[in-house]
Amino acid sequence: MKFMDKSNISESNQGDLAIEQALGWAAGTLGCLREAFAAGRRRDEPWEIARVPEERQPAMAQAAAVFRRGVGVAGVESAAYRPAEILSTRSVAEALALVPGSYGLSESQGGAIPGRFLFVVDEAITRLWPEFRESHLGFPAWILRGGEAVKNLETASRLTAWIRSHSGSADRGLQVVAIGGGVTLDVAGFAAGLCGLEHVNIPTTLLAMVDAAIGGKTGVNFPPFGKNQVGLFHFPARVIICPDFLRTLPVEEIRAGAAECLKHALLAGDLDFFEKWVRLARDGNAAFAEDGGPVVVVTRMKEAFVERDPFELSGARELLNLGHTTAHALESVAQSRGLVIRHGAAVAMGLACKVRLMAAAQPGCLGLARKIMDALRSSRCVDEVIAWLSGPDIAMDAVWAAMVDQMRQDKKLRSGDRTGIRVVGLRWNPATGILEAHATEVELEALRRAFVSCLQELR
Ligand SMILES: NC(=O)c1ccc[n+]([C@@H]2O[C@H](COP(=O)([O-])OP(=O)(O)OC[C@H]3O[C@@H](n4cnc5c(N)ncnc54)[C@H](O)[C@@H]3O)[C@@H](O)[C@H]2O)c1
Repeated sequence: MKFMDKSNISESNQGDLAIEQALGWAAGTLGCLREAFAAGRRRDEPWEIARVPEERQPAMAQAAAVFRRGVGVAGVESAAYRPAEILSTRSVAEALALVPGSYGLSESQGGAIPGRFLFVVDEAITRLWPEFRESHLGFPAWILRGGEAVKNLETASRLTAWIRSHSGSADRGLQVVAIGGGVTLDVAGFAAGLCGLEHVNIPTTLLAMVDAAIGGKTGVNFPPFGKNQVGLFHFPARVIICPDFLRTLPVEEIRAGAAECLKHALLAGDLDFFEKWVRLARDGNAAFAEDGGPVVVVTRMKEAFVERDPFELSGARELLNLGHTTAHALESVAQSRGLVIRHGAAVAMGLACKVRLMAAAQPGCLGLARKIMDALRSSRCVDEVIAWLSGPDIAMDAVWAAMVDQMRQDKKLRSGDRTGIRVVGLRWNPATGILEAHATEVELEALRRAFVSCLQELR
């Protein structure tokens, strides 16, 4: 491996070098990543590493391994997939007892290695739940503070260095245990993957319980190229769901997670489950203390999608994007105007658009669509988006134009006439009365009409 001559590198490259060295990556890896994003490379496009000069090959190979989680890259091995062992517990105190897994088994049970753990804990959890402070955990703990703003390669490199400083060659049973929201789980899982260690996820937000904890997508944001663009597929060995954590979660965060649950209910065509989630979202924290069961049901629903298509190659996992094209466009436009809207609120708006589109194409299900829209409004999951777009200084035409630009950048627009877009849609089966999700193309004009009509209906 060759390192660059330090006297020739700019200040930002000095920053790169520090990160690359902490991660143990070849010098120039971050440059290769930037080039790949700037060139608009896709995940399934092979990287012809053998054709670049020899001295660049280590950096290219490393970049390929983490570029959009490194799948579909010639010469780069995919991570192994195995379904997560999903366990649930009513009380937070019991959650820790479930961590050891096979390492807690006796020798005769085939699990002779005693457990050794490194904890990565969301700072909010250490404040709100004293049992998760380092003094109580009995093993070293890294406290992650700063949220989404610190979900980057710098944090990942510091965490990776910390993990390496605590692990030795004799640590065959060492596991990383991530406790927190999606940010903590994504960064900790990535660092564990880079160190070749197993990890256990203990999600503490609703979104993390039903989404981020499951599916093996780990990684960090890579500005200015977007969220979660550098990472690994690294599947958790076990996921411990404890809805008791939701007692301290702000209601807006409950609604953000509930939107993903409403999505799963629609994907399953289960309207009773949909209404159950509408009630849970509306009632907030207290509701989960009595009934955490629906959370575990959704966690398993997501795992079932992942199992069919772990590396997002066959298209089965694509259905999980129901409502997400509109959501990502909305989030980006809000962000470009200095406003952060929760992903869940944007997803709820995306779901509403799909219901409207379905009703426009199939007038037979107008009554059903109205019922779903009423329920969505009463869940309050979409409130944040409606409040933003109902503001006095909002010009809807400009917002929509910016959303279309964003969708164009996502390269999801149909080639040729560029008036259509690939989305996950809903259709109603008149024979069974059941909703079904499917990947399809819609005209942008139809999507615009659905969006505007949802805004009026959900106000
Ligand atoms: N890997 C995946 O498949 C996947 C899926 C969905 C989302 N994500 C990622 O997850 C992140 C969003 O996750 P999130 O919504 O959990 O955000 P988050 O991790 O930022 O947590 C939200 C807030 O809640 C606090 N918090 C956590 N648990 C709490 C509790 N029990 N009580 C009180 N406060 C608590 C956190 O400190 C934070 O301030 C994004 O970065 C997103 O990209 C990843």
